[in-house]
Amino acid sequence: MAKVATKLKKRINDSYRIIIEKNISRQIPQYLEELELGKKYAIITDTIVEKLFAKKLQNALKRKKIKSEIFVIKKGETSKTLKTVEEVAIKMIEKGIDRHDAVIALGGGVVGDIAGFVAAIYMRGIPYIQVPTTLLAMVDSAVGGKTGVDLPVGKNLIGTITQPKAVFIDIAYLKGLPDKQVKSGLSEIIKYGVIKSKRLFKYIEKNLDDILKKDEEALKHIIKESIRIKTKIVEKDEQEGNLRMILNYGHTYGHALEKLSGYKLLHGFAISVGMVIMNKIAVERGLLKQKHSDRITELLKRAGLPTTALKTPTKKQLLGDKKKQGDYINFVLPVKIGKAVIQPEKCL
Ligand code: GLY
Repeated sequence: MAKVATKLKKRINDSYRIIIEKNISRQIPQYLEELELGKKYAIITDTIVEKLFAKKLQNALKRKKIKSEIFVIKKGETSKTLKTVEEVAIKMIEKGIDRHDAVIALGGGVVGDIAGFVAAIYMRGIPYIQVPTTLLAMVDSAVGGKTGVDLPVGKNLIGTITQPKAVFIDIAYLKGLPDKQVKSGLSEIIKYGVIKSKRLFKYIEKNLDDILKKDEEALKHIIKESIRIKTKIVEKDEQEGNLRMILNYGHTYGHALEKLSGYKLLHGFAISVGMVIMNKIAVERGLLKQKHSDRITELLKRAGLPTTALKTPTKKQLLGDKKKQGDYINFVLPVKIGKAVIQPEKCL
């Protein structure tokens, strides 16, 4: 018998800066000079953001003599496929992007997930930064390193956890964001309040009008608080052994609802309904007081988010979610505003 041992003990420092500031995108070229991530940059964006911000960013890079190429994917969740990844990668090869270059993910959650995934696997991996342009991406998908695409059977079933090298959150990008996109992002922020911070929840209750009017200070505050909560969780459990699962509050039913709607339902709208379903179960199990459940529903309603669905997914339909373990799925159930627990649930 021949034996060979492979020693690959690793020490990795995957820390990165997250900067939240109005007009920070103007300073991205300076930061990139400092970070020296790539010789050239592949700006991956979508058909909407291309027109709004991509050219501007490319011109700013040009002024600092930083080379870049723009790669555009079709807007929307239906683009989040392996086919899109292949198409982008082929175009990147054609434009000469190589292992010494890096990716800039400029857009909402779909762009961030695809661009991060392309970076994670392109030529076995190149660095990337996140520049989210929607509230939803700013408070969730741009932070924490989840990348990937959907399969026809369910969301986010192919992917990696690969941390970005930096995240730049420019509040100015939110100025023209459609109201329904603001509400969709706010749904994730209310989620953070329910699972981890009564203070954040109360802040949203008190300042909801300002938030919906896109008041910059209010937005900055809730973005900062959401990211603070998320990074604390990811630092402790990057690979989602257990603790990180708490971030999936509302998502088990939410993902199934999104899929049932053919991805017409916005993510935040779907998880709003998903959160209400979880609250109902938590009340039935004696974990959550009815008055706390009502208070959450009330805030979601005031925020213009849906709290009921025409068709509730069956438990069997929940098993399309990648968080399943055999026939079990983990339910994230609030026990009060600011605290939630995880309970496995048999779905077959
Ligand atoms: N969106 C949930 C997470 O990043 O874990």
